[in-house]
Amino acid sequence: MDAIVVGGVIGGNVVSNKQVVLRDYVTGFPNESDLVITPTTVNLKVPAGSSTVLVKNLYLSCDPYMRNRMRKPNSWSSATAQSFIPGKAISGFGVSKVIDSGNSDYREGDLLWGAVGWEEYSVITPIPNLHFKIHHTDVPLSYYTGVLGMPGMTAYAGFYEVCSPKKGETVFVSAASGAVGQLVGQFAKMMGCYVVGSAGSKEKVDLLKNKFGFDDAFNYKEENNLIAALKRCLPEGIDIYFENVGGKMLDAVIVNMKPHGRIAACGMISQYNLENQEGVYNLSLITYKRIRIEGFTVFDYFEKYPEFLEFVVPYIREGKLAYVEDVAEGLESAPAALVGLFHGKNVGKQLVAVSRDLE
Ligand SMILES: NC(=O)c1ccc[n+]([C@@H]2O[C@H](COP(=O)([O-])OP(=O)(O)OC[C@H]3O[C@@H](n4cnc5c(N)ncnc54)[C@H](OP(=O)(O)O)[C@@H]3O)[C@@H](O)[C@H]2O)c1
Repeated sequence: MDAIVVGGVIGGNVVSNKQVVLRDYVTGFPNESDLVITPTTVNLKVPAGSSTVLVKNLYLSCDPYMRNRMRKPNSWSSATAQSFIPGKAISGFGVSKVIDSGNSDYREGDLLWGAVGWEEYSVITPIPNLHFKIHHTDVPLSYYTGVLGMPGMTAYAGFYEVCSPKKGETVFVSAASGAVGQLVGQFAKMMGCYVVGSAGSKEKVDLLKNKFGFDDAFNYKEENNLIAALKRCLPEGIDIYFENVGGKMLDAVIVNMKPHGRIAACGMISQYNLENQEGVYNLSLITYKRIRIEGFTVFDYFEKYPEFLEFVVPYIREGKLAYVEDVAEGLESAPAALVGLFHGKNVGKQLVAVSRDLE
């Protein structure tokens, strides 16, 4: 006999659990149809003796690195995040509430952020520096997908640790209105730097100048000469480039870097959907200008998360740090939200509200 489903409850402790499943490995730009909403079920009680935690996912974070996980494993795989498995739910960062726990560190009702499946409920085994208990709840919970989560930590570590900024320096940020970029720009202003950002629409450029306090900004899609656009906004040159996009922008930036400038290579989203990556033609200037270019990944810095929270939470409470989010409602909207990142559809941090039910 078929199970009777009442309000998601199937019987006993078993409830329905929709998942976002990868149909197959992706080449080129991902499409919404590469991700399929699939019905499954989950038991809301963890098995006796298990140390796992059953969580209800409230918010899911859409992050560009997830595109690399849609790729068939290749020679890069050992250096990048593990590929998703076709036919299985994809995973990422989320904000969740504990429903049942066999783990002595987590109790029913606790809130946490960290790695979960893209689904309504996940069974997790908490791992230090991959799952973090949420203690500050006087700020929006969704912020733990952004300013108080992985992108916030990325901006903090990338700017303060990798860029070695000094007061009065010139800073350029690409993808500047996004989850990471909007914070880097504001951190740089706090430091007393002159900050310029690039973004892909007039609305985003307005945000940079009028909400996040950038000194100047331009829409890279409307510039036919990026070298000239950078020269116009930063005539003395660039001390620090916070690199989010790669490709043609990186090439133009190198020409405009000052001697002894620093480039923090956070990401290169313009390359993620290309089967053959673009060349960078001005690299030899790195030598003549004594430029330091350093890649980094946030995973090397999560030990500093408590220090980061102490730094950033007061700014949020005092209204001194702005954070713009783009919230897609419901798990069904997750595929479009994720794919939209690669077309610049998000204005601010893209996330998915899976459930706003905290009870
Ligand atoms: N190293 C790390 O540990 C780490 C951690 C987090 C993120 N990241 C990287 O940081 C970068 C920003 O991530 P985020 O989460 O803040 O994303 P985001 O900026 O919130 O969203 C992605 C944005 O990238 C821009 N974009 C998309 N395709 C582009 C293209 N072909 N050329 C130029 N810009 C393009 C779009 O903005 P426009 O409308 O402005 O084009 C889009 O809105 C990404 O490269 C990401 O991989 C690295």
